[in-house]
Amino acid sequence: MKASISSTSHYAPEKLLTNLDLEKIIDTSDEWIKTRTGIEKRHIVGKNEATSDMATNIALELLKKSHLKPEEIELIIICTVTPDHFAPSTAALVQNNIGAHNAWGYDLSAACTGFLYGLETGSKFVESGKYNNAMIIGLDAMSTIMDYKDRNVCVLFGDGGGGVILEKSNKKGYGIIDSLLRMDGSGGQSLIVPGGGSRMPTSLETLKERKHFLKQDGKTIFKFAVKGMADVSAEILKRNNLSGNDIDLFIPHQANKRIIDATAKRCGISKDKVIININEYGNTTAGTIPIAINESVNSGRLSEGDILLLAAFGAGFTWGSMIIKWGK
Ligand code: UT7
Repeated sequence: MKASISSTSHYAPEKLLTNLDLEKIIDTSDEWIKTRTGIEKRHIVGKNEATSDMATNIALELLKKSHLKPEEIELIIICTVTPDHFAPSTAALVQNNIGAHNAWGYDLSAACTGFLYGLETGSKFVESGKYNNAMIIGLDAMSTIMDYKDRNVCVLFGDGGGGVILEKSNKKGYGIIDSLLRMDGSGGQSLIVPGGGSRMPTSLETLKERKHFLKQDGKTIFKFAVKGMADVSAEILKRNNLSGNDIDLFIPHQANKRIIDATAKRCGISKDKVIININEYGNTTAGTIPIAINESVNSGRLSEGDILLLAAFGAGFTWGSMIIKWGK
């Protein structure tokens, strides 16, 4: 028995930060951002809006679309690197907000690969037979860890995310068919928020030195991301006796359009099968894949029986791919 996705939803804050807005605060240009990344705008949380608020919107929409009542949800996994707090978990906040009083849950930290790690984890709980369902939400409020003085990073990220409910598949062969997840901690320093944790607790000095913002070595990540996403995608296709032609839809993590194009090319997936929405959202870290899944469902690009390939790469380094036969 496999776990399959029975409901999808996504949320992005109303407030927009366009390339033209960024031109006014840092030395950049709409042209540079568009040609180097594909990004045109990002959605940004409002002043009093936190990750749990976005996640609550996503969870309520999931419940509305499903046959489940809040008290029937058994497990909530929130994949994020921008939780409301170190403690309590964002999962606990969401559980209370939606009245899922019988659910347990936790936050899962795997950056841009977070949603794939979450799907893998949640599906195993459901497939074990002990749990009937799991709510998996991937999202980030990246603007809360952005240094809007650092043009190398701040143009890339936005806020938002999405989620799914996993349940037992009714049909043989449907659901999460295979997954391939990787991690290489030697890349840790290339994409890091140095301050605020136990390694470098918050102090006046860490604040002054802007250590609480995300730092990245863009060139190194670019190189590893193209190779990492292409390698795991090619490997998972091969071990399932599939080629790029067999894939109906490819939803890659949205970090840079050039990374997506290179990955699709190496896997032999034609451009019309690749979902790209980075122009609208930027990189929402754990949010990119579930946003794109829900948009694909809404637009009719993803329907019953389709073979869906997912792939992601992010901080850690973490990366992975997944094949899903769409439908319950
Ligand atoms: O989910 C994982 C998260 N992160 C990623 O996936 C990021 C992966 N890396 C990338 O997407 C790309 O490396 C970037 C988009 C970050 C940078 O693109 P690039 O083609 O590698 O540019 P670069 O770093 O080689 O910079 C080229 C030039 C530099 O100027 P000089 O030294 O050639 O004079 C940069 O200072 O562009 C400059 N530059 C900018 N110019 C205008 C860097 N950022 C900007 C900017 N606006 N925002």
